[in-house]
Amino acid sequence: MGRFIIEGGYPLNGTLRVQGAKNAALPILAAAIMSEGEITLTNCPQIRDVDNMLEILGELGAGVERQDDTVKLLPGKASRSVMPNRLSKELRSSIFMLGPLLSRFGRAVCTYPGGCEIGHRPVDLHLRGLAALGAEVSEERGRIICEGTNLRGAEIHLDYPSVGATENIMMAAASARGDTCITNAAREPEIEDLQNFLNAIGCSVWGAGTSTLYIRGGIEHIPSAVYRIMPDRIAAGTILCGVAAAGGKVTLCDICCDHMGAALSKLREAGCLLDQGKDALTIEMNHRPREIKLIETYPYPGFPTDMQAQFFALCAVAEGTSVIVENLFENRFRHCAELAKMGAVITQKDRTAVVRGVKRLSGANVYARDLRCGAALTIAGLCADGITTVDNIELIDRGYQGLDDMLRTLGAHITREDG
Ligand code: EPZ
Repeated sequence: MGRFIIEGGYPLNGTLRVQGAKNAALPILAAAIMSEGEITLTNCPQIRDVDNMLEILGELGAGVERQDDTVKLLPGKASRSVMPNRLSKELRSSIFMLGPLLSRFGRAVCTYPGGCEIGHRPVDLHLRGLAALGAEVSEERGRIICEGTNLRGAEIHLDYPSVGATENIMMAAASARGDTCITNAAREPEIEDLQNFLNAIGCSVWGAGTSTLYIRGGIEHIPSAVYRIMPDRIAAGTILCGVAAAGGKVTLCDICCDHMGAALSKLREAGCLLDQGKDALTIEMNHRPREIKLIETYPYPGFPTDMQAQFFALCAVAEGTSVIVENLFENRFRHCAELAKMGAVITQKDRTAVVRGVKRLSGANVYARDLRCGAALTIAGLCADGITTVDNIELIDRGYQGLDDMLRTLGAHITREDG
């Protein structure tokens, strides 16, 4: 088990280009299996979740090549529609392989992706959506089996704007006969990136970014395509939280400020100076963070749940008291116990936590219990007195392309010890 070793007290200064978006790359890699041409993805983040997805595509028979952040796929060589057990368990989000595999092969089988660190993570909305398109969905011995060679377009209303369910249905609907309309669809920017990719491979999808999505079905031939993954708004927000907590002045390049409204608004409330460009942003912080009174997570464009833990670390050293409410996942406060080891003053009950900021946290040995918890503990280590070790950094590597390298580039005293 690897660890970060962080000596706190050093501000962050400099310029950094942000990685491609994990939560756009994963569904786009899944969608690629629908094509029989050659798919080239650029700005594809070099992270463990992408590694796992590439391994899944390889085990399905697709040709896979990677050179830094460029991935070349030959999905035409794929011949299997049964997902490898181990990988589909390890990578929860492999569930949205069901739609594209169904679209390509008329059949898809994957291991039931049980809960994970942050919650139960049901997939009922995915399965109901695929069934509405005419797929036969069954579950046996922990596996989900979807069959249907004659999918037909449908009007599908999602009880909840699930990101993954929206993506799964979009991909399956592309090859259905007739048109599909999804209402109460997720509005996350990653949905728009998937829409743009699907249209680049010959589909006809529109409405992404709104709650109503339209998919023209019946795609036949899917050509080759070259597509650039959008910037990672959560990786960008994580670095910005680091500057807000540790102080300094940093410019982030190749980001999309329009995707980060909720987080940027909370950084301004904490007293950060933000200078926004179209695809770059400079943040400056030269005092203790001011109080952020309330953070409530919501589906996009509300405050992102994937930024909750990182802001929690910021609030732990802010001047006042913050109330943080996690509305999406039932177990996404696992960073509380670890931050408390560093001296954070937290009261938490169910999905609400109250954190009273302290002037300085103290370095401690802490443990990354999930991806964003690990990012939060790393931020806390940057502004703690003394040395902090963050164990289990393999979880951090799932979503960040070298979080330690990024922070070291900006002047943080952080090293990695591989376990
Ligand atoms: C995506 O997960 C992201 N992952 C998550 O990012 C992110 O936190 C989440 O969207 C919300 O923004 C990827 O895109 C790979 P959901 P997903 O379906 O699709 C309930 C990270 O840290 N739900 O929108 O699984 C579910 O229980 C990860 O990068 C159902 O009830 O999220 C949850 O309460 C973590 N039934 C809520 O919806 C379903 O069938 C949000 O889930 C599906 C979901």
